[in-house]
Amino acid sequence: MTEPIRVLTRNIDEPDSASIDTYLRTGGYKALEKALSMKPAELIDMVKASELRGRGGAGFPTGMKWGFVPQDSGKPVYLLCNADEAEPGTFKDRLIIEKDPHLMIEGMIISAYAIGSGPMSYIYIRGEFAYGAKVLEKALAEAREKGFLGKNILGSGFDHDVTVHRGAGAYICGEETGLIESLEGKRGEPRVKPPFPAVVGVFGAPTVVNNVETIACVTLIVEKGPDWFRSIGVEKNTGPKLYCVSGHVKKPGVYEFPMTVNLKELIVDHCGGTASGLPIKAVIPGGGSAPILKPDEIDIPLTFDAVQKAGSMLGSAAIMVMDESACIVECVWRLVKFFAHESCGQCTPCREGCNWMESVLHRLETGQGRQEDADLLLDMSDNIGGKSLCALGDAAIGPVISGVQKFRDEFLYHVEHKSCLPGTKRYRRLDMPVGAH
Ligand SMILES: Cc1cc2nc3c(=O)[nH]c(=O)nc-3n(C[C@H](O)[C@H](O)[C@H](O)COP(=O)(O)O)c2cc1C
Ligand code: SF4
Repeated sequence: MTEPIRVLTRNIDEPDSASIDTYLRTGGYKALEKALSMKPAELIDMVKASELRGRGGAGFPTGMKWGFVPQDSGKPVYLLCNADEAEPGTFKDRLIIEKDPHLMIEGMIISAYAIGSGPMSYIYIRGEFAYGAKVLEKALAEAREKGFLGKNILGSGFDHDVTVHRGAGAYICGEETGLIESLEGKRGEPRVKPPFPAVVGVFGAPTVVNNVETIACVTLIVEKGPDWFRSIGVEKNTGPKLYCVSGHVKKPGVYEFPMTVNLKELIVDHCGGTASGLPIKAVIPGGGSAPILKPDEIDIPLTFDAVQKAGSMLGSAAIMVMDESACIVECVWRLVKFFAHESCGQCTPCREGCNWMESVLHRLETGQGRQEDADLLLDMSDNIGGKSLCALGDAAIGPVISGVQKFRDEFLYHVEHKSCLPGTKRYRRLDMPVGAH
């Protein structure tokens, strides 16, 4: 059995874990000192050698992304730390932000130096994280006071500072180009790509967008070396990983493991199985955007590649567990309702399609479904997937397609019996008002 590790979470149980004194006592900012004695290109090579893949959702190799940034554009280079964390079921970045903010701030200064960033980086934090934003502001002030931010950092000649920018509660502002638009003061509407942010990003300048956990990993790579980082996990799925487990489990929470941890083992052995004792009915392994897995599909390691091979995605590593009491139609409906609400509305397939899927799912869940609805949902999904400007459209159809394909009988039961399945929490005549039961 894979045992939990404490690397990204090593400081979180320390008293006053967010303070710079605690961070310095546990060896903090030594990695920055080391990084500033190296050449930026050496740091990029180091991150490439670590095989670090982005923790924001897509699992894109971080060193490669950094390598795309042109150094001769004549414009400043920007680093944006994506702290929007709005993917349903995801709450790992929040732990770092609130409990160990210096781990990410140190990683930001190192990353900014490595990509040749100008004098300012930004943390784009979701509006709801009011406490997190406060913690970050305090930590940044501490870092400035100690000379880790500002002019001529640690005598290296490198000038840099970090600004916290609070979002206003839109999921789409987590998408990197929606985030960039929002940071520029515009509506958070994703841009057409290419050009990619590495070439034309915020303020028209080359930009790297990285997730909080990715940036925290950079600190560890510089501190302990790429070989150490690669020794955790397996090839191309390296380093410590935070998993957010929620839903019908006995012990929900943020867990840290190498990516060799098995999904079933994580749920059953580490999280205590289902709180109800009922069998597992379904698992969403990577946040609301990830296709649903059935119990016979969860005996897999939680690597980017293995989860993809199983037909889903690791995404933001938000594992949502449903026991037999869950209604899959309700689950899919609620997720699609979220995506329909959060669609920015720029492109027709996503804007109209998500709303139509929500309507059809709602009528199924309220006992007014039609025999053809399951196929209609698949047809709608087909008209959204790959036909929208950003990945939100593709995200919205993940639960729909997997839900219909893997639980078709449950969808049909709703039509034929005007009811959820017996044994599910919502079992009742769905076409009758709630009070009539
Ligand atoms: C709709 C949507 C929402 C997203 N939300 C987030 C988010 O909250 N946090 C995040 O880090 N990445 C999010 N992403 C992924 C970002 O676009 C981007 O890929 C990521 O921040 C890159 O960081 P990484 O390379 O370190 O993973 C989202 C993507 C989409 C399509
Ligand atoms: S896919 Fe949806 S969220 Fe993305 S740009 Fe189009 S309308 Fe906006």
